[in-house]
Amino acid sequence: MPLLEVRDLRTYYFTVAGVVKAVDGVSFTLERGEVLGLAGESGSGKSTIGFSLINLVPPPGRIVGGSIILDGVDITKMSESELRSKVRWKKVSMVFQGAMNALTPVYTIGYQIAEPLMYHLGMTKREALERAAELLEMVGLHRTMLNRYPHQLSGGQKQRVMIAMALALEPPLVIADEPTTALDVVVQAQILNLMKRLRREKNMSIIMISHDLSVIAEIADRVGVMYAGKLVELGTAEQVFNNPQHPYTRLLLKSIPKLRGPVDKLEYIPGTPPDLRNPPPGCRFHPRCPWRMDVCSREEPPLVEVEDGHYVACWLHAKR
Ligand SMILES: Nc1ncnc2c1ncn2[C@@H]1O[C@H](COP(=O)(O)OP(=O)(O)O)[C@@H](O)[C@H]1O
Ligand SMILES: [Mg+2]
Repeated sequence: MPLLEVRDLRTYYFTVAGVVKAVDGVSFTLERGEVLGLAGESGSGKSTIGFSLINLVPPPGRIVGGSIILDGVDITKMSESELRSKVRWKKVSMVFQGAMNALTPVYTIGYQIAEPLMYHLGMTKREALERAAELLEMVGLHRTMLNRYPHQLSGGQKQRVMIAMALALEPPLVIADEPTTALDVVVQAQILNLMKRLRREKNMSIIMISHDLSVIAEIADRVGVMYAGKLVELGTAEQVFNNPQHPYTRLLLKSIPKLRGPVDKLEYIPGTPPDLRNPPPGCRFHPRCPWRMDVCSREEPPLVEVEDGHYVACWLHAKR
């Protein structure tokens, strides 16, 4: 049984201006110890998948359909109190996008790491602070940081604290939403190396969300590509990066400069991402697709397996 099985997930935001179909029928699985990268342009629904997986979608959003089976139980069916006591932090935790700015300025780092340990594990303050010190060391920070306040830390140090908090109860699944985006490249590499080491040592599963394909290439075993609320391609990192089959993935890969090998012409993807209140009919990518056919604007392409474990939602591959 996989650690996580997401089936036909739909998460919408009910705004006064209309219903934003941010995640609209997404399915995938994740094995224990596996790292899945979620790629795609800004606004494609990556963070909304993350919020859904801890069943904490910010209002006016909510999960409207599908199931999320985590460790054998469907968390979309659980009450808020069950989620709090049994799921969040224990089974799954999330390092939020821009989270390092979410540390509370008035409490010490030690208190902020220790608090969930006292609440969830019933530790005494002394025990929780000792564990917090161990967690800081695990993410490469000195234990004296316990007594510091967030403003006394650099961006990279704060991000390490956020990772330490996410790992505090050693959940089998950690979701990291753009964990390195605000950091300079050196610190970015350190954080990715930290996550790789922790994954190896704890055999935890990670969902690494990033608009930056080089971050995903660095750490992911498998890659899912999101476009306008849909998963358009899913496969091993090797399959998706070396043999991309969806036109969007191909253009996305061509729009970033390569470090090695011959320099291809850099292409950009024409047009703009669709308004998710009123997405294009058929394939949501068709208005921007250089290979579009008649069927593409009429019918939605199913996600089909094109080689072992490599799935693509495109009429170039699906049978009509
Ligand atoms: N609180 C919200 N209210 C309304 N729409 C939202 C809200 N949060 C996100 N959205 C919309 O949902 C879509 C997906 O957003 P998001 O999941 O943040 O994408 P990504 O993380 O890929 O950038 C976007 O169209 C975005 O504008
Ligand atoms: Mg996001």
